[in-house]
Amino acid sequence: MNGSGRLVVVSNRVTQVTSRKVLAGGLAAGVLAALRESGGIWFGWSGGITDQSSPEPNHATNGKITYLTCDLSRRDFEEYYNGFSNRTLWPLFHYRLDLTVFDRLQYESYLRVNRHFATRLLPYLEEDDTIWVHDYHLIPFAEELRKMGVDAPLGFFLHTPFPPADLLVALPRHEKLLRALFAYDLIGFQTENDVRNFRDYIKREANGKLDGDGSCTAFGRTIQVKAFPIGIDTEDFAALTETPEAKRQRHILEKSVMERDIIIGVDRTDYSKGLPNRLKAFELLLENYPVNRGRVHLLQITPPSREHVPEYVEIQTEVEGLSGHINGRFAEFDWVPIRYIHKAYNRRILAGFFRAARVGLVTPLRDGMNLVAKEYVAAQDPDDPGVLVLSKFAGAARQMDRALIVNPYDVNQVADAIQVALEMPLDERQARWRAMMDDLRRHDIDHWRRTFIEELHNARVAGEASQRRALSA
Ligand code: F6P
Repeated sequence: MNGSGRLVVVSNRVTQVTSRKVLAGGLAAGVLAALRESGGIWFGWSGGITDQSSPEPNHATNGKITYLTCDLSRRDFEEYYNGFSNRTLWPLFHYRLDLTVFDRLQYESYLRVNRHFATRLLPYLEEDDTIWVHDYHLIPFAEELRKMGVDAPLGFFLHTPFPPADLLVALPRHEKLLRALFAYDLIGFQTENDVRNFRDYIKREANGKLDGDGSCTAFGRTIQVKAFPIGIDTEDFAALTETPEAKRQRHILEKSVMERDIIIGVDRTDYSKGLPNRLKAFELLLENYPVNRGRVHLLQITPPSREHVPEYVEIQTEVEGLSGHINGRFAEFDWVPIRYIHKAYNRRILAGFFRAARVGLVTPLRDGMNLVAKEYVAAQDPDDPGVLVLSKFAGAARQMDRALIVNPYDVNQVADAIQVALEMPLDERQARWRAMMDDLRRHDIDHWRRTFIEELHNARVAGEASQRRALSA
């Protein structure tokens, strides 16, 4: 951090340490790890729904982190969270125009909640604060703070992909949303591909000016736009495999599969995760490589997510149907191919399960980064590591090129890759694992936080200089 200033993190989802047992996805895990290192404030939704949202945030402190959280009213939960955030922006940002619903009222609520959140945070801000806003729920947050006179360095990080301009322009009022992003000093994306999509939009649709150093000028402001691939707390996650709970659960799992190989998948129940394709690929594995019948288990852990959104109910029904179909087709009285589990496990248990699994299957149709891929690798036994099968459409594939990279739409290819993984000799598994683990160590969550904050302060200085130049021209 810069001098004595505090880090103020703003995200829709806030994970208080008391609820640490189960972390719903990458943002919560990433922000928590980053704030544990630096200390600071974490502001956002409490996860609670009330009839009337309270004017004052709830306070809690744990170690170096102060939590300030607000409830949502039922209407805001429906219109801002389930609605515009998760039925408009989420599918659009995951390239699913076919699932994108636009409702003007929900959009108005999205703007209103951003304004309310900004109003509630305002009294807690101090002069030297650096404010770091996360994810698609809160794109207009900086614009609201700026209107209230906040002049602090403001950075934004998008955890999801950023779609190509041709998809984005289908969103009514896309210009207003993109203009709002220019209230930040720095915008961070997961991959260079996302940066390219953003720059392309700014050039084509906003008549903006792009410079080689990452700066973008449009809507009367110059900001910095860069890729900061999010990491994990690599050493801590690896160490979780040695905890008594991880060891105990791993032992129970291994005993229950009786020497059979475990293929593991852990994904929120979300259509972006490509679960039907994955199950079909597993079915093909059993069909095309019958040696695996009675010899492997797919352990598919799929925690519930956004259950009030109809598309999520549909995907769950589809996954349940497919698992039942495949089990019915191949199971014997003493072996069931798929263990489908619709609940969340804590990180220690997952670390134990990952270590027990010969293959990690991470095959989203589109994903910002996908930290499960990184956690699976971090949890492996260096002497006898498993193999990661990874979708080319996960942000993680850009860094983890020693995984078996697959196209999740090509289910035959995925089935073949699983077979290659199951048969891979030890020396090749070790070499692939070592290369990926070295990279995970170098680019861990602390590296992500430090580089983003450093760049934010640089962006601020660069922005002020360009503002001065513009005024004196
Ligand atoms: O960026 C998407 C994300 O925030 C992920 O980090 C996380 O996996 C997921 O969404 C959590 O979703 P929700 O907060 O709706 O449960």
